[in-house]
Amino acid sequence: MKILILNGSPKCEKSGTLKMSNAFARGIASVTGGEISVIHAAEKRIEYCSGCFICKKTGECVLEDDMGDILDQIKQSDFVIFGFPLYCHSMPAALKVIVERTMPLTAEKIVKGEDGKYHHAEREGAKKQRFVMICGSGYPGSREDFINTEKTFRRSFPQCDCVVTVEESPLFSIKEAEAFSGPRLSLLEAAGAEYAEHGAVSEATEKALGVPMIPEEIYMKFANGEKTGR
Ligand SMILES: Cc1cc2nc3c(=O)[nH]c(=O)nc-3n(C[C@H](O)[C@H](O)[C@H](O)COP(=O)(O)O)c2cc1C
Repeated sequence: MKILILNGSPKCEKSGTLKMSNAFARGIASVTGGEISVIHAAEKRIEYCSGCFICKKTGECVLEDDMGDILDQIKQSDFVIFGFPLYCHSMPAALKVIVERTMPLTAEKIVKGEDGKYHHAEREGAKKQRFVMICGSGYPGSREDFINTEKTFRRSFPQCDCVVTVEESPLFSIKEAEAFSGPRLSLLEAAGAEYAEHGAVSEATEKALGVPMIPEEIYMKFANGEKTGR
């Protein structure tokens, strides 16, 4: 089993949301025995999709950059985790450009899904991946932005069968907050294991993940540097 993390944070290895993705991936691996690899979107040279639609006929993109290797890695994976922080109430540009360049993965034909919405059909005979969206946010009370981003992600990738969101994710990058963020990473790991074992994160775990790690007033003291003196 191959588990691929596409990390959308430009902070690459220093990213707090990467800690979330890694924890979830460890949970999947604890059940499937899979091997985890990470691609940092910001380290790759990815051109904008030119909109030529040639890939729909050939299965290959005409642009020559790092996206060819990313597509190969996606195709070889069993689980693909798109992990990212909310940027301007949406996905960071470094990852959005990759999402737009996944056009070669699907066929030319447009079909109506079970949800009544249209999307490009799967390519015949292609290995099926399970796509996961993992997202963190800096502003407290970001639930509505998560919902919008989740909707967009699920519409882009009908093979997405799991979305995990956590508010106050800058806490994952603050040493003084480890007492709160450590247990949340353990919860994310448990969520990954449930997803791999039962096909979905349990209602109880999802509910626990939806509760902010610390009350808003205390979080704002961390966010504004009052707790860390920065
Ligand atoms: C350019 C930029 C835009 C951001 N926009 C939002 C936003 O719209 N909503 C939000 O809740 N947080 C926003 N944030 C905060 C990040 O989501 C937050 O700091 C996150 O934890 C960073 O994760 P990372 O360490 O993985 O990069 C933004 C941060 C940056 C740098």
